[in-house]
Amino acid sequence: MAVALAAVAATTRSILLRDVDQRVSRLLTQETGEFTNFVDQGVDPRTGTRFTDPARLLEVFLERQYADPDEELIGLVGREGQGPAQFTQRRELSVRHPLRDDGRARREIFAAEGSTGTLKRASGEVRWAKVEVARHGDEPDAAFVVAFHPAAEQAKADDVFRILLLISGVALLLTTGVALPVAGRILKPVRLVRAAAAQLTEQDLTRRIPVRGHDDIAALAETFNGMLDRLERAFAAQREFVDDAGHELRTPITIVRGHLELMGDDPAEREETIRLVTDELDRMSRIVEDLLLLAKAERPDFIAPEPVQLAELTADVFVKARTLGERDWQLAEVADREAVLDPQRITQAMVQLAQNAVQHTTHGQRIRVGSRDTATGTELYVADSGPGVQEQDAEVIFERFRRGTARRGARTSGAGLGLAIVRAIAEGHHGRVCLRPTEGGGATFVLVLEDQQP
Ligand SMILES: Nc1ncnc2c1ncn2[C@@H]1O[C@H](COP(=O)(O)OP(=O)(O)OP(=O)(O)O)[C@@H](O)[C@H]1O
Ligand SMILES: [Mg+2]
Repeated sequence: MAVALAAVAATTRSILLRDVDQRVSRLLTQETGEFTNFVDQGVDPRTGTRFTDPARLLEVFLERQYADPDEELIGLVGREGQGPAQFTQRRELSVRHPLRDDGRARREIFAAEGSTGTLKRASGEVRWAKVEVARHGDEPDAAFVVAFHPAAEQAKADDVFRILLLISGVALLLTTGVALPVAGRILKPVRLVRAAAAQLTEQDLTRRIPVRGHDDIAALAETFNGMLDRLERAFAAQREFVDDAGHELRTPITIVRGHLELMGDDPAEREETIRLVTDELDRMSRIVEDLLLLAKAERPDFIAPEPVQLAELTADVFVKARTLGERDWQLAEVADREAVLDPQRITQAMVQLAQNAVQHTTHGQRIRVGSRDTATGTELYVADSGPGVQEQDAEVIFERFRRGTARRGARTSGAGLGLAIVRAIAEGHHGRVCLRPTEGGGATFVLVLEDQQP
């Protein structure tokens, strides 16, 4: 604003100065024009004939002239050095240093080559125009000079400039005075948001910003609160994850330590202990690997989709699953088309499902693996003929470290991570995993995948 106001003032000043300049030029042309007319047509009132003497001509002309303020009309006759005759107009001059009192300046103009010019003096500049009446040799005999002292007019422009600057200054001050509190009020909610954000710590994400009104700030506060909700959930999930992991890993550590502490000198006993300990360590490292995989599921590059032939993928899964145990494996049906998915992850999920199926069936029981088209995408499934999942477990088994209620006699050694991994992989594909009963008894786990663009 300061720059704009200063520019306005400066522009106004230069426009006013240009106006003065143009007015002075007009005035000078007008006066010299009038004089030229008089030279051509003027008649001496005393004789009634044309003028013959330049001095008389100038005297008569100037007697009739009333100059404008700041304007000087002068007639110069004879050789200046020898004290030429000088006539001036009637009206008194308001100028401080008139040309008629300044012999040096007068001589300069009288002897000048051109007919107009600007004379720079210490007391200010003078714009002049001259009409020579007669010239013999290098100096005229007589000349009519119009001089204008623009200092007063220029001072007026400067006054306007100063007044404009003053008004601008006051306006700036007023604006600042008003804008500061107004801006403060407008930005107050932003400060509230900032203060709330500053008070948030990792431990305390429960604070929320009060949302008032329906403006942009309220929208910002809502967005911010939404972000806090997500953060809080994420932190809680992370804490839970670490708690669970710590808890699950403590058990094998305790078992390993117990075995080692009780180990005697008997070689057979030692061998048995080493076998148990190695078993337990294997389990631990499997848990750690699974946990790492689950942690990775949060990352965007967890799933790397590519176009895959479903028939080929299903057949691969079937071949791999068959090695898991001696069951009545059947490749039920195969979707014969291309789908966009991550073949490695899908195979991983299907193998987990097959592993569970093996764990919940016994020798020779039937397990069917297959894939089929649906209206919106693809389903891949593993259907076993085991005891099935108990009703109260159906919801929870997909959560991490959750095992189903053990049936009498059944002992599961799993960590409860398998289905959580399957679910993470399904969700990574924007799909889901669901549990359906198998016809004739047993559990069927289905990966429901929607078609994606590559
Ligand atoms: N095919 C199945 N038939 C019956 N119950 C099942 C079947 N698959 C899973 N479950 C139940 O779901 C629970 C969770 O399975 P999940 O695969 O997540 O863990 P896990 O197999 O016990 O351990 P992990 O897979 O980590 O070795 C199992 O403990 C079991 O009770
Ligand atoms: Mg499992």
